[in-house]
Amino acid sequence: MSNLNVERVTEVRHHTDSLFSFKTTRDPSFRFLNGQFTMIGLQVDGRPLLRAYSMVSANHEEELEFFSIKVPNGPLTSRLAHIKPGDEILVGRKPTGTLVQDALLPGKRLYLAGTGTGLAPFMSVVKDPEVYERFETVVLLHGTRHVAEQAYNDFLTHGLPEDEYLGDLVREKLKYYPTVTREAFVHQGRVTDLLASGKVGEDLGLPPLDPAHDRVMICGSPAMLRDMVDMLEAKGFDEGSTSRPGHYVIEKAFVER
Ligand code: A2P
Repeated sequence: MSNLNVERVTEVRHHTDSLFSFKTTRDPSFRFLNGQFTMIGLQVDGRPLLRAYSMVSANHEEELEFFSIKVPNGPLTSRLAHIKPGDEILVGRKPTGTLVQDALLPGKRLYLAGTGTGLAPFMSVVKDPEVYERFETVVLLHGTRHVAEQAYNDFLTHGLPEDEYLGDLVREKLKYYPTVTREAFVHQGRVTDLLASGKVGEDLGLPPLDPAHDRVMICGSPAMLRDMVDMLEAKGFDEGSTSRPGHYVIEKAFVER
């Protein structure tokens, strides 16, 4: 039996010259935890060419959604950037990943910190009704260089808070904090600096980060992960896993080189 499902692209959105997202059909047997990733890709020269992609879609949604960069000579993304509705996409049947709620101890607030395409896994988390049962407040930080890279801004500002089922919970508990580093925007600066300086807390009316009450999920570049982990460890946060839940979990955002 193949470890890949063949799905069909149903929708493609190009956010910028280098960022796009797409939806596909979903095999009903494909189950995952919100925050996880799976291998996806295309058949190239008779072989599957696959990379790890987080699900943007929540596990209760009928279709799958993914968020990708385009790298001009990236073996997969340079091809994936041309997909159209109706095309076939390979989707691995074995989702996995560390950004799952069971790897965290119970707490009051959950911080989701993503840069670039590191937003992807948190899109499924903020659509998960369970996260609002577990936490009083969920803070979603998304850092990008440019405003145009704030993909999903409209959905997070309007679509989700107005959602028929999740809207009430989202309006009560989700605090969305988009920030941009290289042009003017409502919030400016790196997510690491904004957290370390206490600016996020000030802007949102939340107390300083504290391992007694706060939990953190992080997804970004290796440098961003290092800086976040250094800051959190200095404050007494410990990394968690499903076998030993802790105060924070990390995962590298997918970037094809
Ligand atoms: P900056 O513009 O200061 O480099 P990238 O597209 O390179 O992954 O960057 C996405 C966002 O992450 C940018 O806003 C970038 O800021 C920021 N960033 C880059 N390195 C770090 C880091 N070590 N810690 C936090 N944010 C970072």
